[in-house]
Amino acid sequence: MTPPFVDLSFFSQYLATGLAGISYGEQPANLYEPIRYIMGLGGKRIRPLLTLLGAHLFTDDLAPVVKPALATEVFHNFTLLHDDLMDQAPLRRGQATVHEKWNPNVAILSGDVMLVRAYELFLDVPPHLLAHVLRRFSQTAAEVCEGQQWDMDFETETEVSIAQYLDMIRLKTAVLLGFALELGALLGGASLADADHLRQFGVGIGLAFQLRDDLLDVYGDAATFGKRVGGDIVSDKKTYLLLTAQAQAGAAQRATLARHIGQPVLDAEAKVQAVRAIYDELEIRPQTEALINDYFLDALQHLERVTAPEMRKQPLHQLALQLLEREQ
Ligand code: IPE
Ligand code: IPE
Ligand code: MG
Ligand code: MG
Ligand code: MG
Repeated sequence: MTPPFVDLSFFSQYLATGLAGISYGEQPANLYEPIRYIMGLGGKRIRPLLTLLGAHLFTDDLAPVVKPALATEVFHNFTLLHDDLMDQAPLRRGQATVHEKWNPNVAILSGDVMLVRAYELFLDVPPHLLAHVLRRFSQTAAEVCEGQQWDMDFETETEVSIAQYLDMIRLKTAVLLGFALELGALLGGASLADADHLRQFGVGIGLAFQLRDDLLDVYGDAATFGKRVGGDIVSDKKTYLLLTAQAQAGAAQRATLARHIGQPVLDAEAKVQAVRAIYDELEIRPQTEALINDYFLDALQHLERVTAPEMRKQPLHQLALQLLEREQ
């Protein structure tokens, strides 16, 4: 049986209205203007969508879910300001990054106040849930920082294992998708068991999502992806692609990799081309796609175990599929 077509635009529209109603602050303009800039550049808004869809499994009353859902989006955008600075990324969503358009100090401080605003968006969570939600959010936010530090540490480490890589992406990316779903479940009145299955579904698709991101960083189209393609290769990010290539390389390929990874970059484009050519030879792309698919199938088992009507699970199923096939 094919799943019924699900229109996610109702949920997106609901979020867009909520987003337009947030006021971050006015003065100094160099603190608040970058926030309106980054939030105005759009993005897929998947984290708040996951929260709404998670809640919608259990309730039709989504109005109280919108602000906490948007907290995850404001938090996510805060991490992007700092991440782009740390990764020296020139482009985000097809436009100049905040540290390029303004300067690094602006990216730091505007990011900081976004974290504060994210916390404020939880203030209307019902009192019986507030402490639990804040505890889980704080834990998640700390884990994102842990993942980000591992990611940076690994740039200069030579012996990173695939297991270490997977744990790093679980922290920097997957736990936030897990939290977004868990938050929706809690606000929708789910049991703790259901909320935890949804969290695990989110972590699973989050791992697949970051693997897809790493793949697009090498093979994406810059215009669609909205980020500089090849950036991970230039900065020696220890991605699944690189670690798998290093493990499977023959002598000549190993020597080429060693000439480029962990060495001063003289010609970034030449480095990207040389490393990508080795990925092509070793068929790293289909291997990564297979792993993405495995994580997706594992994740679905958790969605299946959630005690909600099958019809209501369709939008989540569809969104997860879209994310793993995304080009953006
Ligand atoms: C980018 O997140 C950072 C990662 C975790 C890969 P998204 O791909 O969700 O970025 P936007 O918000 O849609 O731009
Ligand atoms: C970043 O991972 C994850 C977070 C922002 C926490 P990446 O560094 O791969 O994200 P992009 O590719 O810049 O969006
Ligand atoms: Mg980055
Ligand atoms: Mg990064
Ligand atoms: Mg990336």
